[in-house]
Amino acid sequence: MARKTKSPVTYAKMKGIVSFFTALIKERKKCSTECSLKLGTSIPVYNHMNSECFLRPAGILSDESAAAACFTNTSQELQRVSAADFNYLKVIGTGSFGRVLLAKRRENNRHYAVKVLQKHIVLKKEAEDLIMCERNVLLKTLNHPFLVRLHFSFQTKEKLYLVLDYASGGELFYHLQRERVFREPRARFYAAEIASALGYLHSLHIVYRDLKPENILLDSAGHVVLTDFGLCKEGIAGRATTRTFCGTPEYLAPEVLFQQEYDRTVDWWGLGAVLHEMLYGLPPFYSPDRMKMLGNIMYEPLVLKTGVSKSGRDLLKRLLHKDRAKRLGAKRDVAELKCHSFFSSLQWDDLVAKKIPPPFIPSLSGPDDMTNIDPAFTKLPVPDSSDVCEEAGVTFSGFSYTSNFVSL
Ligand code: ADE
Repeated sequence: MARKTKSPVTYAKMKGIVSFFTALIKERKKCSTECSLKLGTSIPVYNHMNSECFLRPAGILSDESAAAACFTNTSQELQRVSAADFNYLKVIGTGSFGRVLLAKRRENNRHYAVKVLQKHIVLKKEAEDLIMCERNVLLKTLNHPFLVRLHFSFQTKEKLYLVLDYASGGELFYHLQRERVFREPRARFYAAEIASALGYLHSLHIVYRDLKPENILLDSAGHVVLTDFGLCKEGIAGRATTRTFCGTPEYLAPEVLFQQEYDRTVDWWGLGAVLHEMLYGLPPFYSPDRMKMLGNIMYEPLVLKTGVSKSGRDLLKRLLHKDRAKRLGAKRDVAELKCHSFFSSLQWDDLVAKKIPPPFIPSLSGPDDMTNIDPAFTKLPVPDSSDVCEEAGVTFSGFSYTSNFVSL
């Protein structure tokens, strides 16, 4: 684990936290006028989540900045959305924070991935890190073609809901596992889309940090969708791969393992690890013995077998440089990657405009088709709708966040 005092804001932390607090603040403001009427003054509206303790002593959001957040996000008409507005169809992800459900919004029949988080776990785990989120970072809007979009967030008494785009193509690595390796043009395409998303985040001073196989999804057209899920896959019986292990070290940069300071260059290491696995079928420094693998990442030189082009191997060598100051991207970030010979055939502007046809289109009979989602998830029982919606519409009726994304 990286030293907490130095860890930067990460995408995973920020995305959930932004929406959570934006909504919280809105409700807080609104409540001063509305809630006493609606709920009666005896109900301690935020007591159970101890919002004051996050909003005040931590100093993340002063009342002024809270007002700014509120203003930014209420400049367009808000839709009131609650847990009860969705039919929950399948489990498509799970972890220690909660689970991800495929859901259909009743109003428009659109599919969404709904991340349901247990508040007590989120607040406990993130409380320490929260205080490092600066106001201006918190208020940033993320809008990039290869980042999952947040549509709404709302909460019930015990749970926090994030309603996200549903990436129906499944995990990139689900496909990789089936095919063992990808050919270079396909690996190049995915690496470039991931790099472009990371470069965008870095431009907002956000470090993704959690680049790992389960966070890289495909949409129905075959484009990359980076998710913000910091969910480890603990507790899923029968998932055969080593990635099921919570806190998998395969993709961790040496500086993280050494508990040293780290910066955005951890993401270029992560990209190197992803690219290595796509081209060779295994993560770099791989050993079936976990401890040995950690040792390899920290101390052993990178060994690259033949079978990958010279430019591919050169890129891997540069991204997986143990010294982060010498790693590709250390100086000019994604601009350095764009100039690398491995990407010389690629038109980056076309890539971001989604003008490059994806090398693989997931086969889907329709939005309900689950063939690209790991059965380890989909076979899990879907929580009863009454369980999902239990407290919705009572204490926090109308607790809503509506994204103001505009497509690039
Ligand atoms: N699993 C986790 N998040 C997902 C999403 N947004 N779409 C599809 N599957 C997911």
